[in-house]
Amino acid sequence: MLERIFLVGRTHNAWQNKPVAPALLTQLYDLTKMAPTSANCSPVRLVFVASAEGKAKLLPHLMDDNRKKTETAPVCVILAYDTRFYELLPQLFPHNPDAVNWFAGSAEFAEQTAFRNSSLQGGYLMLAARALGLDVGAMSGFDPAGVDAAFFPDGRFKTNFLCNLGYGDPAGLFPRSPRLAFDDACEIV
Ligand SMILES: Cc1cc2nc3c(=O)[nH]c(=O)nc-3n(C[C@H](O)[C@H](O)[C@H](O)COP(=O)(O)O)c2cc1C
Repeated sequence: MLERIFLVGRTHNAWQNKPVAPALLTQLYDLTKMAPTSANCSPVRLVFVASAEGKAKLLPHLMDDNRKKTETAPVCVILAYDTRFYELLPQLFPHNPDAVNWFAGSAEFAEQTAFRNSSLQGGYLMLAARALGLDVGAMSGFDPAGVDAAFFPDGRFKTNFLCNLGYGDPAGLFPRSPRLAFDDACEIV
């Protein structure tokens, strides 16, 4: 499993013509939702774009290279966050009824918390997808205002990043880029 998730798993650019079963997307969310977020705030909101209609709404807002990759991906998930995630804290963090007030009075803290935790949830989703046998290809090269206007017109949800999901075609992979060594990125104090 470590091989699949970390050592062999790659960011895919090309996709096999093989659909992703809707039940697998449910399973993917059911794993993702269990990973930790601060105060269990769970701000990520997902739109799995799998239909031709959905793709037609999404593709105009992607950078050219990303648009080409996404045209053939069976699914592109929009990872957004709920700017008013804290309204659900009475349900999600029931042992502290005051938690909603940590965020309701501070737009900056709420935004920071939503972005941090939805980014984490995006990472969890990618690792869960690999654990389920899917391949992933994350993308930040798109016009967020355009995606938000197309999918979240009431302004409550904001797009964080996009991620293609499916079964990758290894022919489309770039050579693996180097990573920083422990001594270059870490210290033990
Ligand atoms: C949040 C995020 C955004 C990314 N945005 C793009 C993108 O817009 N276009 C693209 O081609 N790759 C994008 N990538 C892919 C990275 O370049 C890739 O994950 C990195 O080079 C490591 O490649 P590897 O996973 O195959 O080792 C993104 C990755 C992440 C995690």
